Amino acid sequence: MSVILKSSKTSVPLRWRKEVESILITDDQLARRIKGLAREIERDFRGREMVVVSLLSGTVMFLADLIRHLNLPLRLDFIGVSSYGLGTESGELVFTKELRLDVRNRDVLLVDDILDTGKTMSRVLPKLRALKPRTIKTCVLLDKPSRRVENIRAHHVGFSIPDLFVVGYGLDFAERYRNLPFVGVLHPHIYQEVSKQICNDLNK
Ligand code: IMP
Ligand code: MG
Repeated sequence: MSVILKSSKTSVPLRWRKEVESILITDDQLARRIKGLAREIERDFRGREMVVVSLLSGTVMFLADLIRHLNLPLRLDFIGVSSYGLGTESGELVFTKELRLDVRNRDVLLVDDILDTGKTMSRVLPKLRALKPRTIKTCVLLDKPSRRVENIRAHHVGFSIPDLFVVGYGLDFAERYRNLPFVGVLHPHIYQEVSKQICNDLNK
């Protein structure tokens, strides 16, 4: 079961107020849901050892919190994917780190921060399947179903959210804001200013 969020009434801490317009998911809501998600995943894997394959870098905080609640034997590895898009639109996908653990005949849990258009997952899944794991289950913290381009669903979803570009708790905008302890939305002028800055840097 995933949770459809409206919006949090919690006000933005003073130190972030210039950049962050609103909080969509508070740190308490994240902590509670991730515990529940861990229980769902445990039931799904029925005590079997899993290989957790996490996509860099947006999953860092979610992954750290999720796996410390997973009471199962597990091994952990990473795949590096980077989408060289500008601003809030994803661009061409480049693999920056390959998997090192052998997943043949293993039960894999593929973890990503957010399922948006589905392009990332639909590029990563065939690569993983080619390594012949026994099963692959997918888990994402956030799901934006209204943005989907590829026909893909995650097995385990933390929160379903509306079509908003969000930052924090690992998620970035132009590699910034990953350290926010909550999931929030930036003021529109921040998106515009940073996009302008990236374009200027590229044209130098
Ligand atoms: P997809 O390939 O369009 O499904 O997008 C997946 C990737 O795009 C995620 O792993 C994120 O890195 C990035 N992304 C998509 N939506 C957001 C967002 O709202 N905030 C930050 N990153 C996002
Ligand atoms: Mg990302």
